[in-house]
Amino acid sequence: MISEEMKQKLIREAILARKNSYSPYSGFAVGTALLCESGKIYRGANIENASYGLTNCAERSAAFTAATAGERVFKAIAIVGAPAKEKATEICPPCGSCRQVLAEFGAADMPVILGTESGTYEERTLSELLPDTFKL
Ligand code: THU
Repeated sequence: MISEEMKQKLIREAILARKNSYSPYSGFAVGTALLCESGKIYRGANIENASYGLTNCAERSAAFTAATAGERVFKAIAIVGAPAKEKATEICPPCGSCRQVLAEFGAADMPVILGTESGTYEERTLSELLPDTFKL
């Protein structure tokens, strides 16, 4: 169970992470904050490339940073995204690829917090976002 206080903290961290988004091509900035079993929070931002297909989504930036630090259990993630010049007032659900990457280290009931800068959020579980997850 993730407390309401922790959810709000993750949203604040994701808003801060979004400020480091490098998104000159799409103009769409995403920030994430990933809580892991150690209690540490890892930030992620989308990092684009002139070769567009090499872009890394914000969720995968956080996931790979956490895994590189040795984390193997993801407990919750907050995601905040919107056009870079705007405040994030709408939710930004993760893309299909990021759902699959999160499922590598996150349980079916892991909360995915879709935050905004308006003080509201929606919550899903990973399995709601990715039913029938592929696993080996
Ligand atoms: N993006 C993310 O960071 N996360 C997602 O789940 C969907 C898309 C980024 C990739 C690209 O830099 C921009 O949003 C527009 O697609």
